[in-house]
Amino acid sequence: MDHFIKDITLADQGRKRITWAAREMPVIAKLRRDEPKNLFSGITIGACLHITTETANLVLALKECGARIFLAASNPLSTQDDVSASLVKHEKISVFGKKGENSVEYEQCIKAVAEKKPDLVIDDGADLISYLHNNSRFAGKVIGATEETTTGVTRIRNLEKSGKLIFPVIAVNDAQTKHFFDNRYGTGQSTVDGILRATNVLIAGKTVVVSGYGWCGRGIAKNFMGLGAHVIVTEVSPVRALEAAMDGFVVMRL
Ligand SMILES: NC(=O)c1ccc[n+]([C@@H]2O[C@H](COP(=O)([O-])OP(=O)(O)OC[C@H]3O[C@@H](n4cnc5c(N)ncnc54)[C@H](O)[C@@H]3O)[C@@H](O)[C@H]2O)c1
Repeated sequence: MDHFIKDITLADQGRKRITWAAREMPVIAKLRRDEPKNLFSGITIGACLHITTETANLVLALKECGARIFLAASNPLSTQDDVSASLVKHEKISVFGKKGENSVEYEQCIKAVAEKKPDLVIDDGADLISYLHNNSRFAGKVIGATEETTTGVTRIRNLEKSGKLIFPVIAVNDAQTKHFFDNRYGTGQSTVDGILRATNVLIAGKTVVVSGYGWCGRGIAKNFMGLGAHVIVTEVSPVRALEAAMDGFVVMRL
């Protein structure tokens, strides 16, 4: 089994955190409990996702359903090195990603997954899908893919419009349960969390500018307002700008 990870000695800590995250993932638990163990037998899945405890539970469920799965990082900064160590050591899953990897390493990780010639692709940002389009010798077996993000779906729509899309892609971001809940509430919370961790400042009394009052922007603005910030929204769509104003935010030009 090949892999590219930071430190295998972090595996035990990673396993504890993966188990903890599973407590909040009832759909994955149901998949693991109820789906037949041969659901994906003979299927190779290439995944390019944030390597986090939640992703670990997803890939474990897919493996338990019979898939061969190969996982690359979809962002050089979000990889949780203890999680990748646990997937490699305890679960014998090939993982390619180290927190802080450079752009050359990042692309090599995606290449390592593409080279497995996946039947199914799970992507977050469309980097693996784009790589397979630029290196179509690896894409011959692809039945279809899923793409999770707003940006990734935009990239894929551009491929489709120019007649270059070579396999079907499910636009997960278009599902109401994705953009309505994940983008608004999930990103709304995690953006605030990231800024707090990076700056360690008191938010109350600060002025926060949120550019774009779409799904993410609505959630981010609401969370900062809840912490006592003065929130200013900038928005190019007049209807969304009006919505932001009606929701109680100051709306200004960028
Ligand atoms: N990191 C994450 O966890 C995460 C999760 C979901 C989405 N995203 C990213 O966040 C971004 C927003 O996603 P979304 O689902 O909210 O998209 P969205 O389409 O719902 O909202 C984007 C908003 O920005 C506005 N906008 C566009 N150009 C603007 C400009 N120049 N000035 C001001 N406003 C402008 C649009 O009118 C729209 O209302 C995307 O890039 C997406 O990929 C990140």
